Amino acid sequence: MKNRPKSLISINDFTKDEILKVLELTAKFEENPDQNLLEGKVVGSIFFEPSTRTRLSFETAVNRLKGRVIGFSEASNTSVSKGETLKDTTMMLANYCDLIVMRHPLEGSVRYASEVSKVPVINAGDGSNQHPTQTMLDLYSIKKTQGTLNNLKIAMVGDLKYGRTVHSLLMAMSHFNTSFKFIAPPELQMPDEYCMYLKNKGLNFEEHTDFAENIKGVDIIYMTRVQRERFSEPMEYEKVKNVYILRNTMLNNTKPNVKILHPLPRVSEISTDVDNNPKAYYFDQALNGVYTRMAVICYILGIK
Ligand code: CP
Repeated sequence: MKNRPKSLISINDFTKDEILKVLELTAKFEENPDQNLLEGKVVGSIFFEPSTRTRLSFETAVNRLKGRVIGFSEASNTSVSKGETLKDTTMMLANYCDLIVMRHPLEGSVRYASEVSKVPVINAGDGSNQHPTQTMLDLYSIKKTQGTLNNLKIAMVGDLKYGRTVHSLLMAMSHFNTSFKFIAPPELQMPDEYCMYLKNKGLNFEEHTDFAENIKGVDIIYMTRVQRERFSEPMEYEKVKNVYILRNTMLNNTKPNVKILHPLPRVSEISTDVDNNPKAYYFDQALNGVYTRMAVICYILGIK
């Protein structure tokens, strides 16, 4: 489609300046979340995969800004179940709304949808590929807790192979001279393409399998869930599902400023005894998603 509207599919669809601009806007929405900036606008929210936070924080964002939401949270009761293609579904929805928010299990599917849509599309997660609005809320959470995005040390822990949130966060943090520690079992290591991405930008990263030792000097511990739904063999999942569990006692020797982030949902990788530790930030992080998504929507729609 010629003159395609601006969409957000990969975090790299935003320049560093755009990222910073959206983070500024996010802070304004946190100060004053109830505004009527989306009055008269309809957002189409279509989720082909389960979601709690992303779907509901997008809906909350639109509702707080006085817009309306249409859509579905599972495709089985739509005409997709009769064989309607992603192209036709997207083109139809684009007739009904001003913006599409889409989650889909296939990598690249949301990019494809943005190419056939006459309205902007925001990627709410496509397979193991990207989750750019999660990244925006992660960046906001990091900046808010550390006071800066620059020169930080971040440990990414768990399923670095299938976890889309670490893939997009790594790309975004590469603008800010970050030092990375990748802590994963051999089966779930950061894919080569992302390691190459950092190498090409001249950035430091270390790969480790030991957990407790390697979280001591970092500013952010970014925990991830082992993504059961991406494994073709259930036994392979069983082997790694409890590979790392963060327990409260492990935080004793970590930096005073460290914050624990997790995109959630959590399964077993953070023990519940961590929840009341001031270093735990994952529930506040999820709240930041509402303000961040307000900012992303307004930025994509060109609403000042
Ligand atoms: N973080 C995240 O994407 O959560 P949901 O799967 O609940 O949307």
